[in-house]
Amino acid sequence: MMNFESQFSANAKNMKQSVIRELLKLTVRPEIISFAGGLPAPETFPVEDLRAAANTVFDKHSAKAMQYGTTEGDNDLKDEIIKFETRQGVKLESQNLLVVSASQQALDMVAKIFLDPGDYVIAGRPTYVGAIQAIVSYSAKVLGIPFTPEQDGFDMDALVTKYDRAIAGGKKVKYIYVIPDFQNPAGFCWSLAKRQALLEFAYRRDLIIIEDSPYREIRFIGEHIPSIYLLDQNGQNRGIVVNLKTFSKILIPGARVGWIMAHEKLIAKFVIAKQAMDLCTNVFTQKWLAEYMKTGKLYDVIKSTCDNYREKRNHMVNALEKYMPKRWEIKWTKPEGGLFLWLSLPKFINTDDLIYKAVEEEKVAFVVGSAFYFDEPERNAMRLNFSFSSIDLIDEGIKRLARIITRELEAYEAGHRAKTAPEGV
Ligand SMILES: Cc1ncc(COP(=O)(O)O)c(C=O)c1O
Repeated sequence: MMNFESQFSANAKNMKQSVIRELLKLTVRPEIISFAGGLPAPETFPVEDLRAAANTVFDKHSAKAMQYGTTEGDNDLKDEIIKFETRQGVKLESQNLLVVSASQQALDMVAKIFLDPGDYVIAGRPTYVGAIQAIVSYSAKVLGIPFTPEQDGFDMDALVTKYDRAIAGGKKVKYIYVIPDFQNPAGFCWSLAKRQALLEFAYRRDLIIIEDSPYREIRFIGEHIPSIYLLDQNGQNRGIVVNLKTFSKILIPGARVGWIMAHEKLIAKFVIAKQAMDLCTNVFTQKWLAEYMKTGKLYDVIKSTCDNYREKRNHMVNALEKYMPKRWEIKWTKPEGGLFLWLSLPKFINTDDLIYKAVEEEKVAFVVGSAFYFDEPERNAMRLNFSFSSIDLIDEGIKRLARIITRELEAYEAGHRAKTAPEGV
């Protein structure tokens, strides 16, 4: 039998399996209430309207839809994306837009065109695991920056200190990766001041910002804050921000279509990278999404998705308040958008161990917090998804989670009492 391992490239040896994808296999059993996946709610998918749009493609565009397309993307879809972004105040021209096979491909392309082995990427602690996977698969590393206690963006002092130390140590920092709108995993949303401060930081050091915005439109509480891409455009317009968008969370993830907005020189490089990956994004799907967007119904879907997630998020927050033990420090974020919240436990509870007990003893699942760190992971947190489960299951799932956490606290407290009790008692 051939030793395949010895044939793998150095980059392939660095590739890491996604802990989340592995965990998801554990949680597909029907009796398990899973808050683990990042799945949108299937009831938000506009099946009949999408069926009609697909029929229009067969009726009107079948020859084009079944043919190879350009790497840059289908023009009908690009026109619709331009209208969509223009409504949000973005000035977008065709040469600044590339259609991709969803954001995960964009994250891989970004890593591919910028990173040499040993390079560094600035990213939050915690951050999206798929971005970490893309970075390490090019043998690069993450310079992790903590968020402020107010959860309104990076701790800018820590950013400056860590960056300066890295540069002084001879490290090459290639770009900054951020998810300013309802970050995965914790649901944090960057304030306007922090977005501006990051842009200034990047201007001063000639750094590119990769702004990953899959959840941007899924704001269900409060007012929209301008993207960093828009702040650059309306400010010095240096073109240093690359904005990644996707249909996955605003419509359907199964389409596997997204788009990149960037300076035309970067788009040209992305196009070359994409040619080697898949020649072009699925043409039928692009035509299908273009026909659907022409109906104007995407805006209604986004609105009803936000209504749906607001209700579920409120239920999850209320259930946490109702069922979680009121002692020790148990905290959770209260996101104003997106699909996730972040639960932190006392340091003595390790969620890497707790997940197995939660699945076996209480039939409830989450994603372990440690999955979202490149190094020195925090092990006392978890990500909870609120978009996928029904309201009844959210209530029952949180009740189960609270039970297992209560048992952990009791076990710790009993051990603690035994240690501190006077002899003979
Ligand atoms: C922050 C972030 N970026 C990118 C992606 C990948 O999305 P897509 O389905 O567009 O590949 C996800 C998916 O959950 C995500 O949370």
